[in-house]
Amino acid sequence: MSRIRELPKVELHVHIEGTLEPDLVLELAADAGITLPYPDADALRGRYVFADLQSFLDIYYENLDVLRRRHDFARLAYEYAVRAHSGGVVHAEVFFDPQAHRSRGVPTADVVDGLVDGFARARTEFGFTADLIACFLRDRPAAEAAETLDELIAVDAPIIGVGLDSAEVGNPASPFADVFTRAADLGLRRVAHAGEEAGPESIRQAIDHLGVDRIDHGIRSVDDPDLLAELVATRMPLTVCPLSNVCLQAVGDLASHPLPDLLSAGAHVTLNSDDPAYFGGYLDDNFTAVAEQFGLDDDTLARLARNSVVASFLPASRQREII
Ligand code: ADE
Ligand code: ZN
Repeated sequence: MSRIRELPKVELHVHIEGTLEPDLVLELAADAGITLPYPDADALRGRYVFADLQSFLDIYYENLDVLRRRHDFARLAYEYAVRAHSGGVVHAEVFFDPQAHRSRGVPTADVVDGLVDGFARARTEFGFTADLIACFLRDRPAAEAAETLDELIAVDAPIIGVGLDSAEVGNPASPFADVFTRAADLGLRRVAHAGEEAGPESIRQAIDHLGVDRIDHGIRSVDDPDLLAELVATRMPLTVCPLSNVCLQAVGDLASHPLPDLLSAGAHVTLNSDDPAYFGGYLDDNFTAVAEQFGLDDDTLARLARNSVVASFLPASRQREII
């Protein structure tokens, strides 16, 4: 929809590894001489039927094998920027998972330098800007997250914040309190996935133990009216990802997504794509899907786009320019 593409938007919840399109998996595998267990991109795409978050994460981590060299990460970042920009995204705060690469023997410096190269090219060519947020894997020990932060500092990674992702159920946020405190002391912003698959208590932990500036997903806040009222009162941004929630069966279907309840409660909702190469759409596709499903009017769509700018970590002067 052109009215959606024309709204200037900031994307606040996208995993760069989740923008790895099947065609690029095949191309990078061919370049690196990797033999894949499927014949073509359609066969890979055919495996993208997910019962839950874990069944998605299994394929997401497996596909990372093709990302090995600095220029693979540069390519990944650039291709995301091209696609996001075509849908009206002007700036993105992009997650990456350093541990998922380091554990495969890919140096963190190559990951970071490659992403920086790709986004620098996008900025030069069409003015798209991006900042990086390093996510810790919550299904790995907190001590490993602490080592990862040390390594990011050692390679002088130009990150603006830290996040927490991977399997939520059974992996509470509280063990990561110390590493998040250290990140805050370094002047980094803090975000965490919470309330995607696990309930409102997961959101409560992210706020109380990690001191987050935004909640990634947060849709299960609708199950706890007191918590939702608090999120509204504190203007806590929620980075909601509707197509992701449908694909990972966090909701039964788009019609039963709690987006309308969050909006009518006055929550600071932003829309995002999460892992667009896997979930059938980039940010503009998420806007279009919810606009059609819920009959959102132009004012509501403009409010959602504006929320994304205000909830970003951009300086106020740049936010004003975008709005
Ligand atoms: N890592 C990549 N995508 C994720 C998601 N939707 N939830 C948690 N961790 C993730
Ligand atoms: Zn996510």
